[in-house]
Amino acid sequence: MTLIINEIETAVKEIITGNVIGLPTETVYGLGANALNDNAVLKIFEAKERPRFNPLIVHVHDFSEFEKYAGEIPEDLHLLYEKFSPGPLTYILKKKKNIPDIVTAGNDTIALRVPSHEMFREVIRRAQVPVAAPSANTSGRISPTSAEDVLKELDGKINYILDGGRSDIGIESTVIDLSGEGISILRHGFITKEEIESLLGKKLKTGHDKILSPGMSKSHYAPLTPLYELEKNADLNKFKKENKNAGILDLARYSSLKEAALNLYSDLRKLDSMKHEFLVYRKVTDKGLGAAINDRLHRASSGVFKIKSNQD
Ligand code: TXA
Ligand code: MG
Repeated sequence: MTLIINEIETAVKEIITGNVIGLPTETVYGLGANALNDNAVLKIFEAKERPRFNPLIVHVHDFSEFEKYAGEIPEDLHLLYEKFSPGPLTYILKKKKNIPDIVTAGNDTIALRVPSHEMFREVIRRAQVPVAAPSANTSGRISPTSAEDVLKELDGKINYILDGGRSDIGIESTVIDLSGEGISILRHGFITKEEIESLLGKKLKTGHDKILSPGMSKSHYAPLTPLYELEKNADLNKFKKENKNAGILDLARYSSLKEAALNLYSDLRKLDSMKHEFLVYRKVTDKGLGAAINDRLHRASSGVFKIKSNQD
């Protein structure tokens, strides 16, 4: 049985013992374990049914920890860190040998993030170990943004979930690669490309010359009910009338992209539990935070919904 708890001390004990535990972060809930303990990390992969080739983010409580685990600290990291950390930015850096291969899936790089959620940071600080934590969902499914969501995903597979309230941001961290020549975004997230470029005063690398995050396989973040993209100009009212069995993910009703990101996964979960025959959404703008939202929608979707014309 899995319990939702409020005591940080119990979470610290679980990490030290080598168990996995659901932990709150400002982005989405994580499934954490001691990153220095192979067996504990293995339990993360098992609980999530995550493919072993997909490396994990290592969470630390402040910058001093970067020097322990990262081989090189590039100049731009200081600027980025000062502006965006603690918070939803994950840095890919050359790694030192002290991080087990299972964490980085054999790569010579490590993903490091300092979360801003105070309860999570307190757990890391008190456990005195770095905490490897992917999102606390079954691999490929919708990321959880509350302790109750984690319970639905992983009930019986872990002992505890530390309840830190609803995640403030609701979408994952941006993953940025600083390990080679030039800087590129491997996964869009809450911190936008535009914000990073304006801070650094240069363009990020784009194109296909870079291998993406190993975790960026096409099908991801998916509800169990099939989800389709509705063409941009589709008449929503007409669609609703003609498709009473469809659930509609209407992100346009939110007043900002931040609000849309915050509600994206919880709305998807709600719709997924309503026994619709299928779900539909319309993309948001590709600018700013819209890039991360559209990326998640695209990976969660089964394709474009073709509206029948009257002649059919
Ligand atoms: O907001 C977040 O980032 C959440 C919270 C819990 O921190 N975590 C999260 O973890 O989203 P996960 O495992 O669901 O996604 C981590 C992403 C994956 O796409 C993975 O492939 C990539 O980071 N990643 C991790 N280590 C990497 C590495 N060494 N090189 C390239 N990509 C890496
Ligand atoms: Mg994930």
